[in-house]
Amino acid sequence: MKIGVIGGGQLGRMLALAGTPLGMNFAFLDPAPDACAAALGEHLRADYGDQDHLRQLADEVDLVTFEFESVPAETVAFLSQFVPVYPSAEALRIARDRWFEKSLFKDLGIPTPAFADIQSQADLEAAVASIGLPAVLKTRTLGYDGKGQKVLRKPEDVAGTFAELGSVACLLEGFVPFTGEVSLIAVRARDGETKFYPLVHNTHDSGILKLSVASTDHPLQALAEDYSSRVLKQLEYVGVMAFEFFEVDGGLKANEIAPRVHNSGHWTTEGAECSQFENHLRAVAGLPLGSTAKVGESAMLNFIGVVPPVEKVIAIADCHLHHYGKAFKVGRKVGHANLRCADRETLAAQILKVEALIAE
Ligand SMILES: Nc1ncnc2c1ncn2[C@@H]1O[C@H](COP(=O)(O)OP(=O)(O)O)[C@@H](O)[C@H]1O
Ligand SMILES: [Mg+2]
Repeated sequence: MKIGVIGGGQLGRMLALAGTPLGMNFAFLDPAPDACAAALGEHLRADYGDQDHLRQLADEVDLVTFEFESVPAETVAFLSQFVPVYPSAEALRIARDRWFEKSLFKDLGIPTPAFADIQSQADLEAAVASIGLPAVLKTRTLGYDGKGQKVLRKPEDVAGTFAELGSVACLLEGFVPFTGEVSLIAVRARDGETKFYPLVHNTHDSGILKLSVASTDHPLQALAEDYSSRVLKQLEYVGVMAFEFFEVDGGLKANEIAPRVHNSGHWTTEGAECSQFENHLRAVAGLPLGSTAKVGESAMLNFIGVVPPVEKVIAIADCHLHHYGKAFKVGRKVGHANLRCADRETLAAQILKVEALIAE
């Protein structure tokens, strides 16, 4: 079976690493000459709107999937004429736009921060008056790793902020005084079968994910699964979807969804019976899902900007290096380390070792 992937970054690369043993082949559509997934499949180097190359991709593959959500709607609509596309155009339309995403949470009765659509500085001022400060202004589309957003703390922060974010459609959100951030990685098959990985506790630094730790018997697991199931059913979703939540007042508020494999699920490569990457491929290919059960105690630490010397990373016991083969650049995710340990105490100790290496 040949899978077409829109996007050729590290998520595409890890999909191919998981799918190759299942006998799958891959083709990646990505305009970047140095797309790091290209080492693991065919690279169609073209823009996402290039219909000749989209047609070529559709002719070559059995189905198409995505490794990022900011794909133009026209690209998805065009491909869907010729080849099955999972997740659906509708799922992408919602997940790529923070207004649609939060509106869906609200319609489904899932708690989410107060939010307002912002089309002008005047809208922003009116929304600040009703939502209050602190608040977060985010572009509705194209934001990632904390980019395209600004925290407004004082009244002086409000002036000129709409222009600062590019005078594009935005969303104002109430700032959530969360006690923690968790994410749930879910997978839904074509026949509706749904499985969930254990909740992951996430720590960010300047908007970029730094550390994910898989939980054991988290008290909010059932609630997170309930909220997530509502979204998956409503969208008749197929594939892996990630749900980011704020932990607040002993409950959860939904922050955002990602219609794809997710950075906070990278630990599953060694830490679960079947990884998020393999399960995404199984789901879109119409194959039976694999077990989402945890194997040992796991954490993932991102390498941002630079991968520490390979020999030092792999010298740490229980540590598995994932090097994306990308050029090193400040603020860029270039690799990660997965730790899979026998118990929580060992895991805590090994996390400190990887953190010390990152700080060197
Ligand atoms: N409403 C909010 N209240 C408090 N913190 C927030 C809020 N929105 C975002 N953040 C912080 O910023 C991080 C990135 O925001 P997010 O909306 O998840 O955007 P991205 O698409 O960049 O991941 C979140 O993980 C969280 O730490
Ligand atoms: Mg996020």
